[in-house]
Amino acid sequence: MLIDQENILRFKEVHTPFYFYNTALLKETLQKIKKEISAHKNYIVHYAIKANANPKLLRLIAQAGFGADCVSGGEIERALDTGFLASKIVFAGVGKSDWEINLGLDNDIFCFNVESEPELEVINELAKAKGKIASVAFRINPNIGAHTHANITTGLAENKFGIAMKDMEHIIQKAEQLCHIRVLGLHFHIGSQILEMDDFIALCQRINQLIEQLRQAHHQVEHINVGGGLGIDYEHPDKHPIPNFSFYFNTYAKYLNLSDGQQLHFELGRAVVGQCGSLVTRVLYVKQGATKQFIIVDAGMTDLIRPALYQAQHQIENLNSREVLEKYDVVGPICESSDVFAKDILLPKTHRGDLIALHSAGAYGEIMASQYNCRALPQSYTSEELPDIKS
Ligand code: LLP
Repeated sequence: MLIDQENILRFKEVHTPFYFYNTALLKETLQKIKKEISAHKNYIVHYAIKANANPKLLRLIAQAGFGADCVSGGEIERALDTGFLASKIVFAGVGKSDWEINLGLDNDIFCFNVESEPELEVINELAKAKGKIASVAFRINPNIGAHTHANITTGLAENKFGIAMKDMEHIIQKAEQLCHIRVLGLHFHIGSQILEMDDFIALCQRINQLIEQLRQAHHQVEHINVGGGLGIDYEHPDKHPIPNFSFYFNTYAKYLNLSDGQQLHFELGRAVVGQCGSLVTRVLYVKQGATKQFIIVDAGMTDLIRPALYQAQHQIENLNSREVLEKYDVVGPICESSDVFAKDILLPKTHRGDLIALHSAGAYGEIMASQYNCRALPQSYTSEELPDIKS
């Protein structure tokens, strides 16, 4: 049971749709990650803010001692406001604008993950103007596919991300000549929602080759950042509310050749927050179509775009009905045919006013919401914030 009965009763008074965050599960997940990395020397986890930047969650993640992986100036500001240390912030992205780089420099963030030579030159210039030295890691495109949706693979040569392997030595040599740049190491990220450890093993093997190539050319690599990507169980969130972090970190421990003193950084987003969030919505109408039965809810693709964008399937639960199962399409109110959460699924007989939860929506849910159709953005609640039950 992902949401307990008491909270379901408290949902009654709340305006829908809204995101509900189970902070107890988030705290448990954070403790599990900390326990697992403590078994490995020099493993550091940065939470990928892009997955969910809700301040209520960010404060808990910062308090647990995690670093932050940011991809914009806005994310850096949000991370600093919610308690992340600048010395634990990494800043990635193919298109960093000057004000964003300056923000990173002013706050002395830990590292810029640099994705191109022109970007390196701009960072050097801006650091020079401030009399500072910017720490950088080079994001290398390892040309490795991942078993996930095409829209969320990032490590193939055809993707816009990173520096081509053939240019790696050249850019490092160049950086070593720039007075306002300090080279910390290499950065990689092959994609998201990856459940097959073989993909991470392939990345480890590629990194081993590249590090060996650099060692022979007498380049030091102090820090290796392998990005994020660990997936969650969307099909059975109740069985696997916490991803198998032990398996994940042990895969890196087994296949990546770290030398003494080398630090290994991770940028996990989905695996940290994915399972603690549900989108709660109310049934507006149950409509009998020509060939189908539709449940029309008050949440739409504006509140959770993943099904429309990546054909993602979130487990759907009717929180009120326990009646016989019937077949439905669950759809939102937006004027787009792709505004569909699920097709032909079995749910207990559903009525107007029932509350429906879309689970595993903690990552890339609320943060990707839009105001299309002039809709209000969804609100969010943790269990501590829900109104008390009226007796
Ligand atoms: N590091 C980098 C450089 C990234 O690009 C990403 C995600 C992460 C870390 C975190 O990846 P995670 O651990 O969350 O898999 N909106 C899509 C996912 C886009 C992921 C973008 N990059 C979705 O809803 O599935």
